[in-house]
Amino acid sequence: MSSINYSEKIPNNVNLSEDRTLQRALESWQPDFINWWDDMGPEGSTDASVYLRTAVSVDPQGWAQFGHVKMRDYRWGIFLNPGEANRKIHFGDHMGENVWNDVPGEYRANLRRIIVTQGDTEPASVEQQRHLGLTAPSMYDLRNLFQINVEEGRHLWAMVYLLHKHFGRDGREEADALLQRRSGQEDNPRILQAFNEQTPDWLSFFMFTYFTDRDGKFPLCALAESAFDPLARTTKFMLTEEAHHMFVGESGISRIIQRTCQKMNELRTDDVKKLREAGVIDLPTLQRYLNFHFSVTIDLFGADESSNAATFYSTGLKGRYEEGKRTDDHQLRGQIYKLLSVQNGQLVEKEVPMLNALNEVLRDDYIKDSIAGVDRWNKVIEKAGIPFRLKAPHKAFNRNIGALAGLKVSPEGRVLSEGEWKSNVDHWLPSGSDRAFVASLMGRCVEPGKFANWIAPPAMGINRQPMDFEYVRFN
Ligand SMILES: [Fe+2]
Ligand SMILES: [Fe+2]
Repeated sequence: MSSINYSEKIPNNVNLSEDRTLQRALESWQPDFINWWDDMGPEGSTDASVYLRTAVSVDPQGWAQFGHVKMRDYRWGIFLNPGEANRKIHFGDHMGENVWNDVPGEYRANLRRIIVTQGDTEPASVEQQRHLGLTAPSMYDLRNLFQINVEEGRHLWAMVYLLHKHFGRDGREEADALLQRRSGQEDNPRILQAFNEQTPDWLSFFMFTYFTDRDGKFPLCALAESAFDPLARTTKFMLTEEAHHMFVGESGISRIIQRTCQKMNELRTDDVKKLREAGVIDLPTLQRYLNFHFSVTIDLFGADESSNAATFYSTGLKGRYEEGKRTDDHQLRGQIYKLLSVQNGQLVEKEVPMLNALNEVLRDDYIKDSIAGVDRWNKVIEKAGIPFRLKAPHKAFNRNIGALAGLKVSPEGRVLSEGEWKSNVDHWLPSGSDRAFVASLMGRCVEPGKFANWIAPPAMGINRQPMDFEYVRFN
């Protein structure tokens, strides 16, 4: 077991104390991180003592130790999964060669860009979510929000470690810039657009953690295949934490649906106005939020055709999702993939070299995975005996990146005129009044065991604690 050395300033399982230069670089970055956390971290959390899980080692027994911790004293550390002896590169032009423990000079710029782009999303989501604690629907949910926030902070540490350790001065500058960009700020925004959107309410938060954290899983899985071994080992450990974030999103939406269906049955109505008066979120509004988050999130995979994607794959920097489980030649030369494009106002399939379509391949894997969760939500509605089903929109709906950007397409996939789009968009995406209604439900409800009216309690407490457990102690 590789346990974490808590006697040092920065908990780690990478023998930090043996590399004094690196240790000093990180120790000088740490106060800037804490300043960033004080400025941009979760509002109202400074004095709270929160029932958090902290990693004390990367093995199954050690990575989820629970106990009350002051948020600011959370020990953000650097953990890599153990290395595999004799690991070989298993895709691309270097297939069969030994993996790299250092960055090859010719791939330095691309690797740095990949790590910075990933790293930038981590503090961005903390910034996006920083006001949510003020309107938490329960103490249980507040604790989950804080858990996600500290772990995204740790993911930032993970990427900063790689930058400091392997990229010298440029890496240190990039690490500083990660604390300087701000979500949604006009003159210095976060790199990816979805991370500049607001997360204004808890419905958005649950949609975000379901769709966008799941989206995070796919690039992380692709990086976990990387020929650059420290990156592969880092992202593998991040994935274990990411699973909880997605759980928070999936179960959060499930609980909202459960509560809404209960009210629908109680009042024997599907009338939106009556349900809103009863203080629950009607299913059509949930559908519109789903449409929004799904479409914004699939944009994150980038352009459908991308020579960068081909280069990242061929050079071994970034694999496909579950590369190791696939049975093709792992080189993909001469293979083709079908993309959507527009011809004479119609969506048509177009064949392109698969290597250039790897963003689209990853997006399609993601779509499959995220739709499975939508089906699980539908089970909750079905069980309540209500004839309504949620549906992920067509992948050409509301896109802003790639060949489909700016196209007006209905959630069913029909290409529309500008006028048709305009007259229907409020049925498909959250309108100002939807958002205002959801905002009107948000109020702080943090007595142990109490839940806001619009959401059902979870099936089980965190770490099997009772429902009225004091997850957060406000000091
Ligand atoms: Fe993360
Ligand atoms: Fe996450």
